[in-house]
Amino acid sequence: MKIIHLSAECYPVAKVGGLADVVGALPKYQSSENVTSEVIMPFYDNKFTQEHAFSSVFNSTLKLGEEQCNFEILTLDNNSLGFNIYFVKIPNLLTVDYVYSFDDANRFLAFQIAILDWILTWNEKPTIFHCHDHHTGLTPFMLQESYKYESLNAIPVILTIHNAQYQGWFSHDKVGTIPDFNFDNVGLLDWGESINPLAAAIKCAWAVTTVSPSYMEELKENANGLESLLASESAKCSGILNGIDTDVWNPETDSYIVKNFKKTTVVSGRKGNKTWLCNEFNLDPKKPLFAFIGRLVGEKGAELLPSVFDKALENKNISVLLLGSGHDEIEEELNLLKVKHKGSYNAYIGYDEKLSHIIYAGADFLLMPSRVEPCGLNQLYSLRYGLIPIVRKIGGLKDTIIDVENDGFGFTHDDVDIDQIVSTMNRATKLFEDSKEFTKNRKYIMGIDHSWDASAEAYLKLYQSLKK
Ligand code: ADP
Ligand code: GLC
Repeated sequence: MKIIHLSAECYPVAKVGGLADVVGALPKYQSSENVTSEVIMPFYDNKFTQEHAFSSVFNSTLKLGEEQCNFEILTLDNNSLGFNIYFVKIPNLLTVDYVYSFDDANRFLAFQIAILDWILTWNEKPTIFHCHDHHTGLTPFMLQESYKYESLNAIPVILTIHNAQYQGWFSHDKVGTIPDFNFDNVGLLDWGESINPLAAAIKCAWAVTTVSPSYMEELKENANGLESLLASESAKCSGILNGIDTDVWNPETDSYIVKNFKKTTVVSGRKGNKTWLCNEFNLDPKKPLFAFIGRLVGEKGAELLPSVFDKALENKNISVLLLGSGHDEIEEELNLLKVKHKGSYNAYIGYDEKLSHIIYAGADFLLMPSRVEPCGLNQLYSLRYGLIPIVRKIGGLKDTIIDVENDGFGFTHDDVDIDQIVSTMNRATKLFEDSKEFTKNRKYIMGIDHSWDASAEAYLKLYQSLKK
């Protein structure tokens, strides 16, 4: 079986969020003697591509409406990722120094056309196409409707929705850029007032998955306009919980962290990392350290964080550290708090992979007050490192974290509400004060298995069920 993942992101090549982590891990766990799982992604002009060598495997020209674009397919030399990876290079359009931008409709359409044009030339065709999010959402439509790709249309194609908030909308006047398709079926591209790649993929994919079972259920109520579509397509929809790459996220071997540790050395190991964080960010290592890592956007409940921290820090016996970037106003408010709560609060506004690992290894509690959370990987990394999560009961957070009051190991709250979050932080502080229970809990969560094995198997079963 040959599985082809199509994605805009893949760790460690280009990462904006969890999509990269999933696409950088799942293929590795799917690969076996009988299964080859490969990734095709855009070639961006970034640190990874500047520091690595690539070889060209295919060159051609594609048509984007009236325009002709040269493209090249490259592969990574000395690849140690654990799966084959190919890159679509389209200078000035796709190959730029960012992942997403205002002209994504053209960029990702060109990306998908290049992939299909290339695959048309393969002798041995893929067994499965696996598309991730709206950036690759026109592929199921083109496979089904474009005359040009008729020879590929018996290949099952699945769509995984990592985030239904973003749908890749573009206006009808651009419909001519999609290669010659059966115009009678142009309606498959529509949803609401515009062309909607995510909706088109939901309609045309052979199966649709979300990254947790609860998120699939929640989408029926709230899918940014796609509720009724998902309800009508529900027979082919299911939720498969993400796993984590336990090679990358392993406190025993993680080369980013200050002190490595395992279950039996969790106390001293985490202390080493916490001391480093507290020195670096001027915090008191004796106090419980609450952390947030993530995109500063509404989905993550981020606009509440300044008020949550301000209120929680009325308790002089806690510290807070934030790592994130996003909306300017939220960043500004979070920076302002540094003055008011000097010595008990700090924030690094930006993206820093290494720092994120040290926070997983050194903080005491991780906050995830998400409004929407399709799966969430932070809480899973957090468990593996013995960092206790405090989460809102939603999506994948609901599927993975059980409150201590229900014989669980984390802290949960129902709503995205300042008082609820602060009072949950206060409950957590009590656990911190009981050092025996606190350590026992840390050791317990480190043993919870969220590796990819079970989920990779679930995807394979799904693919098998689609093969004719
Ligand atoms: P999402 O994909 O919605 O952002 P996930 O929980 O699935 O959320 O994944 C987020 C990933 O991005 C995690 O690996 C997390 O550690 C990482 N991350 C988010 N923000 C930052 C940041 N500012 N610096 C470093 N890593 C970050
Ligand atoms: C999205 C979601 C996040 C999920 C990630 C990987 O970015 O917001 O919850 O964990 O995709 O599937």
